[in-house]
Amino acid sequence: MERTFLMVKPDAVRRGLIGSIIARFEAKGFKMVAGKLMQISDELVKKHYYEHEGRPYYQDLTTFMTSGPVFAMVWEGEDVIKLSRFMMGSTDPEKAAPGTIRGDYATRMNRNVIHGSDSPENAEREIHLFFDEREFVINK
Ligand code: PPS
Repeated sequence: MERTFLMVKPDAVRRGLIGSIIARFEAKGFKMVAGKLMQISDELVKKHYYEHEGRPYYQDLTTFMTSGPVFAMVWEGEDVIKLSRFMMGSTDPEKAAPGTIRGDYATRMNRNVIHGSDSPENAEREIHLFFDEREFVINK
């Protein structure tokens, strides 16, 4: 069974969207196996976005991601990495189709509501950056 790392970003936590976002993944048939409300530290945000260091948007992105609490989660299911990215929609909310999470809830790039791992390698890396094994439940 595949796992991915999903994170409700500070804009969406502030707007009270955690429950609506979780409901979509539950309705799709995926299982949450770990989840927590947390403040990301400067150290963690650097590790999480290390691939983007030096890009023009890096400072805005890291400042935004540490501007308030996030809701970090691990989800499990068949093809969950690819399918959850479909459900999220395009990274740029202006290009995200209606019916997707960003298409329905976001208007701006730097307020794009949710992060999801884009590959099995990144899913594994991100899951272990945010969670340790004791925080997982076993879904039967
Ligand atoms: S890339 O080059 O394809 O990996 O980049 P992309 O996947 O489009 O974006 C990587 C992450 O950077 C965020 N991003 C931005 N944040 C703020 N402002 C601007 N202009 C911007 N451009 C990209 C984007 O939301 C991605 O973060 P996550 O957390 O994965 O959504």
